[in-house]
Amino acid sequence: MPRPYGDGVFYFGKKERESDMKRMLSGIQPTGNLHLGNYLGALKRFVELQDEAECFYCVVDLHALTVPRDPDELREKTLEVATLYLAAGLDPKKATLFVQSHVRAHTEAGWLLQCVARMGELNRMTQFKEKSQGSDGVVVGLYTYPVLQAADIVLYQADAVPVGEDQKQHLELARDLAERFNNRYGKVLTLPEPLIGKIGARIMGLDNPVKKMSKSAGSEANYIALLDEPDVIVKKIKRAVTDSENCIAYDPESKPGISNLLVIYSLITGQTIEETVQHFEGKGYGQLKKEVAEAVVEHLTPIRERYHELRQSGEVERVLAEGAEKASAIADETLARMKEAMGLVPPFGR
Ligand code: TYM
Repeated sequence: MPRPYGDGVFYFGKKERESDMKRMLSGIQPTGNLHLGNYLGALKRFVELQDEAECFYCVVDLHALTVPRDPDELREKTLEVATLYLAAGLDPKKATLFVQSHVRAHTEAGWLLQCVARMGELNRMTQFKEKSQGSDGVVVGLYTYPVLQAADIVLYQADAVPVGEDQKQHLELARDLAERFNNRYGKVLTLPEPLIGKIGARIMGLDNPVKKMSKSAGSEANYIALLDEPDVIVKKIKRAVTDSENCIAYDPESKPGISNLLVIYSLITGQTIEETVQHFEGKGYGQLKKEVAEAVVEHLTPIRERYHELRQSGEVERVLAEGAEKASAIADETLARMKEAMGLVPPFGR
């Protein structure tokens, strides 16, 4: 039976667990500044899903190591992202929040899946090609990155993985690896489905609306960080690149800048794209930018305020400790089943 999840529709397969709820897993890297694209394509949907599914969300700090990082900054960003999950409305009573490196099964399952993954399929990963281009010091971890991501997912037997569109290829690989594992060693792993929103899965850069909004963009004019102050948000939206007409229409191909602003407004206010276009009928670009900026500021202000309260409180560390314990219980069980299926002898005397 089809069930709506956020703005997408997802058809679930046969259940395998006792609980009626489907299981979700997703992760965010603690790199750069979390932005409106991460929020609308992922985080906001994670929060909506916590009422409909059994959710596991992590800060994928091990993935962040694939590009050289300052250790102090990585520590800081890991807690920042965890705090933003909570500030955005994640309720630890409903969803499990943890740091990837706190659950040791991830690296171990990553190795097991590296022995299932093929060089040819990793060679085809477009994110690796993009990220490694023009860099001489590319580390092996960047190449095997999608395999660790597959391990993150299969360890929780996730039925679905809410993500933005840029993760689609990684999720196809995760599914292929799970399927190959099951064919070779017996049915151990759930095959995950990507859960990608119909709109908002690819929020575009404000300074260049034909490329996605990105944490690693060269200029801060590219994105609205979730922690940007209101005056900064207003300024960035005012300067957003549009086109030389003054006609508001939703047409991502020929009007990418205006369409991007319409998508942002629609997701933030909960209106459909059609309602949004109707709302702006007969208005100019100046008015559109003004209203988008007001809506974004109004939506992000409580998140920013809650973030600053939470960072002082010690609450985040407590939630992460509990989350790691809950996540480990499930991940360890899958890991043990994977190892047994592959023929690894379990430790004696335990
Ligand atoms: P990351 O940290 O780059 O991004 C986190 C989430 O934000 C989405 N996203 C966007 N959505 C819409 N518009 C954009 N411009 C935009 N930019 C980013 C991403 O699609 C993602 O959902 N490899 C992953 C992290 C990861 C993961 C996992 C995800 C590691 N293990 C297991 C799911 C399941 C990444 O780098 O996301």
